[in-house]
Amino acid sequence: MLAIRLIPNNIVLSAAAATQCCRITAFSSGKPTGTRIWYGRIRKGVSSVADIYRDSPLKSIGWEDFVGLPLEEKGRYFLRDSRPYHVLIAQQFDRPTIERLCEIATRTRRIAKTRGGMRFLQDLLFDKRAMLYFAQPSTRTFLSFYSACQIIGIKPAEVRDASTSSEVKGESPEDTVRTFSSYFDMIIMRHPVGGFAERIAWLLSNTERPVPVINAGSGKDQHPTQALLDIYTLLRSFEDKGGLEGKKIAFVGDLARGRTVRSLAYLVALYPGVKQYFIAPEPLQIREDILRMLDRRGVPYELTSDFESLIPEVDAIYMTRIQDEWDTADESRSIDTTPFHLRMEHLQKLKPTAIIMHPLPRRKEIAPEIDSDPRAMYWRQVRNGMWIRVALILYIFARESEIDRYYEDLIS
Ligand code: CP
Repeated sequence: MLAIRLIPNNIVLSAAAATQCCRITAFSSGKPTGTRIWYGRIRKGVSSVADIYRDSPLKSIGWEDFVGLPLEEKGRYFLRDSRPYHVLIAQQFDRPTIERLCEIATRTRRIAKTRGGMRFLQDLLFDKRAMLYFAQPSTRTFLSFYSACQIIGIKPAEVRDASTSSEVKGESPEDTVRTFSSYFDMIIMRHPVGGFAERIAWLLSNTERPVPVINAGSGKDQHPTQALLDIYTLLRSFEDKGGLEGKKIAFVGDLARGRTVRSLAYLVALYPGVKQYFIAPEPLQIREDILRMLDRRGVPYELTSDFESLIPEVDAIYMTRIQDEWDTADESRSIDTTPFHLRMEHLQKLKPTAIIMHPLPRRKEIAPEIDSDPRAMYWRQVRNGMWIRVALILYIFARESEIDRYYEDLIS
């Protein structure tokens, strides 16, 4: 039998952190077989070896049991010390966490307006490195995460093309990503296979070197950080217009394969009284799983293909492009999407207080002349994306209280 005994040696307190030094001795049949010294930072509630190595609740569940859970039950497995550790699905967020992230994002962007503030931010996570593994194309998500890392001092590295990794030599994607965890403190990943980021988070949580995994877009199913930046944009836009509650939001375009809408529909459902309209050609209409989720939560919604008549009714229009990269036989080529385009003449029907959103990239679904209308928010979404990702990373590494202290002392 192998036993491990923990013998506290001493406690060293510094201004920055409380650290503890322990000797860990392994015993076999009553005889010591090896000793290691463990130096660690004291975390609240740490009282035993089991606690010290309690890295993630994902350790406590087998993959088959975990993957079969309903999405809303998975969220607790992504927590550590009651805060998001892995960020994988929109369903793991509740309203207080979303609003706290928005507050950190807004405070951080204000701090960043001065050189002194930028210097302070640069120091927050100077000791961390992040791998941005993007196995699908991206402009905004990649660059906003890259910039977010730079703002708070994290050193980013990238693999953007699996053909440059040892996957071409037959290495499994799982082994490739596990290799990243040997060198980096966080993995931010986009992958064409739905659920792959969850698989990686589970795998890494069951190794000796778990690191946080952020899903930067997976398959056709989830884009949780896009949903965070979208809800941040909605909350900011309606801050002085009675808030988000009770508003009408229209999702337009390819709702069957648009992962941004699928994630955002869940976050919006956390706000009582918001009615969701899904406006799409029938083959591209929102899928049943989202409608079942809305039914369970008692959220009002409507499905239609009549875009024109809803334009004057709604408070936000969330446009999306056709996601034809998922076509298997050019099937969306035969669908007429022009009735789902927003044109200049529509603007006079739109409420003066309404907003127009788009996750981008766009094709022809929003005329470029609309960009200069004050209701067009999609370029603001791009910028909001960087700040909410800064906030998210700070929150994962539990550094957000330093933002509060700096903000309250020097800004507010
Ligand atoms: N919105 C979004 O995910 O854009 P990219 O594909 O350019 O990252």
